Amino acid sequence: MTDSMQPAEHISDVLIIGSGAAGLTLALKLADSDSSIHIDVLSKGPESEGSTSHAQGGIAAVRDTLKDNDSIESHVQDTLIAGAGLCDEAAVRFTAENAKDAIDWLITEGVPFDKDEDAAKNGRDEYHLTREGGHSHRRIFHAADATGKAVSDTLISRAKTHPQITVWEEFNAIDLVTTKKLGLSGNRVLGAYVLNCKTGRVENFYAKFVALCTGGASKVYQYTTNTDISSGDGIAMAWRAGCRIANMEFNQFHPTTLYNKDDRNFLLSEALRGEGALLKRPDGTRFMPDHDKRAELAPRDVVARAIDFEMKKLGADCMYLDISHKPADFIMKHFPTIYDHCIKVGIDITKEPIPVVPAAHYTCGGVMIDNRGQTDISNLYAVGETSYTGLHGANRMASNSILECLVYGAAAAKDILARLPNAQGITKFKPWDEGQVTDSNEEVMIQHNWHELRLFMWDYVGIVRTNKRLERAMHRINLLKDEVQEYYSNFRVSNNLLELRNLLQVAELIVKSAMLRHESRGLNYNLDYPGQESQPKPTILTPGV
Ligand code: FAD
Ligand code: SIN
Repeated sequence: MTDSMQPAEHISDVLIIGSGAAGLTLALKLADSDSSIHIDVLSKGPESEGSTSHAQGGIAAVRDTLKDNDSIESHVQDTLIAGAGLCDEAAVRFTAENAKDAIDWLITEGVPFDKDEDAAKNGRDEYHLTREGGHSHRRIFHAADATGKAVSDTLISRAKTHPQITVWEEFNAIDLVTTKKLGLSGNRVLGAYVLNCKTGRVENFYAKFVALCTGGASKVYQYTTNTDISSGDGIAMAWRAGCRIANMEFNQFHPTTLYNKDDRNFLLSEALRGEGALLKRPDGTRFMPDHDKRAELAPRDVVARAIDFEMKKLGADCMYLDISHKPADFIMKHFPTIYDHCIKVGIDITKEPIPVVPAAHYTCGGVMIDNRGQTDISNLYAVGETSYTGLHGANRMASNSILECLVYGAAAAKDILARLPNAQGITKFKPWDEGQVTDSNEEVMIQHNWHELRLFMWDYVGIVRTNKRLERAMHRINLLKDEVQEYYSNFRVSNNLLELRNLLQVAELIVKSAMLRHESRGLNYNLDYPGQESQPKPTILTPGV
């Protein structure tokens, strides 16, 4: 290969992989605090395609303790209860205590949270707060039912016009490069190999610090509320580079996604239940009071299991979510996105109940970090859904996720800024070796393996697990891993191949973790272990052990 055919290379102070709430909070906090820093932000697809822009319900924060008699302590206690005894209390306190600053920052950045019209009538300028499962108070800041879009649009437009930030769309990070991988001393991150999806070439990104902000892994399941980008890339990359990964058995299933033959990914926000929607059987009777005294506002794991139980008991394809008893103008004002979407598939939510089923929604586990966002590898950070902070325990409470992105994004920025003056310089590594590979003409095999993986994960590693089902899943994963590794070694990399490789890695971590947990707790419900251990611990997996 001549020099002119060498793929491009890029140098920055900080390489951020991911342009959701986590990545953009980190980027903006860094760039706004140090006028000499340069930041590269990668996005695997279009910059707004991730979970952030699809978030509906909102962001939990106690900003005004006079309102609704709420308190930071109450936010802490609700999170601990939803987390089913497995939260790291220090992480919960850290997050709840920093929530006010996080919301204030978003307000300053220009996120148009809904205002409280009733308060305005009495001359008070207040935000409207909604409620969701597990929260004992109204404390969710929201922009109607499209909060994520409001956050994403605001942060993206700031980042894209910031002179110190370069956003690279359709750049898919393949793997991290570390001193250890190069046979050098220590284990420090040096950058990443990244597929330029427009040219098909792999480019080198060098940086003093790297942050994984790649979102979750819910695409490992057949039915999910997530977009295609949620293939657990950051978790898989971190694992391959030598980081510990924790609590992967706790994949959250959102109780209420639209049940529709052609459209099974659309979320029906928990805020609907927060504002009074009721869950009903096909005959119109309520069932949540039979399962939990908190009824429709029980934490998500409880509600998803109750729906699954009722569907299996009745042999029904779905249950129903009904808000039609509320005034039509109230519904259309608070839930315009959901109203419009349902109208398009022939359901008028102001008049009739909505058919619902659970779907994979959120990855509670991930790359282990401390409260500065640091992973096990020097200069490598992880923030957002890809990380494990201990905040969510065995079940995330609604609207605590974007909050985690904001709080840990700010903490990571502070830490990087403090360390930057003494950071080691850039170390270059050799270009990606494309010498032996040919273009794959077996894309059909990749597609087939993809579907197979997602289907058996849904069937065997879903809401209700057994040891036998987990063993079956692990057996299938091992077979697919061998096939895909052979493929990866022999063919030119493509987005689908990279995602399949990562999904298989993540599936293995989920099943391994589920096999290690001999109890039913939060989102891990195993019929062979119905009881609970008295002193539960997080499941921590260490590479090579
Ligand atoms: P994401 O927003 O998912 O962004 C990930 C980024 O990483 C993307 O830019 C993607 O392109 C990039 N990326 C991934 N892999 C690679 C790679 N290999 N190379 C380069 N780039 C890569 N949480 C709440 O708190 N409140 C809510 O109301 C709420 N509602 C939700 C509704 C829906 C439908 C969904 C799916 C989730 C919801 N959640 C909610 C969860 C929350 O939205 C996410 O957990 C959070 O937004 C994750 O942010 P993130 O920045 O970590 O990842
Ligand atoms: C929802 O609006 O129900 C999603 C909220 C969340 O996942 O936190």
